[in-house]
Amino acid sequence: MQFTTSAAHYDRFMGRYAPSLAAALAEAARVTPGSRVVDVGCGPGGLTRELVARLGAANVAAIDPAPQFVAACRERNPGADVREGVAEALPWADREFDAALSSLVVGFMRDPDRGVREMARVTRPGGTVAACMWDTTAGGMAMLRTFWSAVRQIAPNVEGERSMAGTGEGDIADRFARAGLEDVVGGALAAGADYVDFEDFWAPFTYAVGPAGQYLASLPREQRARVRDACRAAIPEGPFSLDARAWYARGTVPTLQADRLSNA
Ligand SMILES: C[S@@+](CC[C@H](N)C(=O)[O-])C[C@H]1O[C@@H](n2cnc3c(N)ncnc32)[C@H](O)[C@@H]1O
Repeated sequence: MQFTTSAAHYDRFMGRYAPSLAAALAEAARVTPGSRVVDVGCGPGGLTRELVARLGAANVAAIDPAPQFVAACRERNPGADVREGVAEALPWADREFDAALSSLVVGFMRDPDRGVREMARVTRPGGTVAACMWDTTAGGMAMLRTFWSAVRQIAPNVEGERSMAGTGEGDIADRFARAGLEDVVGGALAAGADYVDFEDFWAPFTYAVGPAGQYLASLPREQRARVRDACRAAIPEGPFSLDARAWYARGTVPTLQADRLSNA
């Protein structure tokens, strides 16, 4: 899926979860000072910023296919090596990094298994590959659960985001194992965001960011209003916070079989 909206709109829609999610993924990936890490599918740079804070900009690289996100990520993370491109064809040499991380991207890759193999290829033997996606299968991401539940009140059979790659428990771990990564572990990451009121929640859905925003934009005006009303009924008055669960996996690039992981 292409992300064509501005970084500012992404920030208000999903970027507000970045500080908590990025810290949780960096912890789960056991990112340690002195290591060199690439953020695959960096968007405007929420995880990149966390990595720069932990490792210094000179030790951080990032890549995304959306030019406006690449520009924002570069501006927000001066000194980091931020490039335009896709996970399936990373422009770095074999074994260049100590770790490759990816936040909320596996499900958007055209070929997620190839993307994972590429992340393993650019990571040194013994290094770490880690990725996460929101739990939109079991509904652990409250913001998206609220939206798609509202949609299903008017269109019960809409698939929404529940069958995207990586969104089911264990899916990313299975992909990592298939890619030949070792010592694969997975689990849940806890994140969240604060909202000042319902409009703060609703307005970002109208920016057409990601599958939810693009689906809303595709509806006739009267149906959009019905989805809004259903969301309004599910959200409390005044300021509120929403929890968000992501599934993650972490794996190690095998020491003896590193050549086998190269993308043929
Ligand atoms: C939901 S955003 C996540 C952005 C950021 N990682 C974050 O956590 O906020 C998904 C990102 O994946 C990027 N993307 C889509 N297809 C991709 C691909 N094949 N390879 C790498 N990134 C991709 C999009 O441009 C977008 O920035």
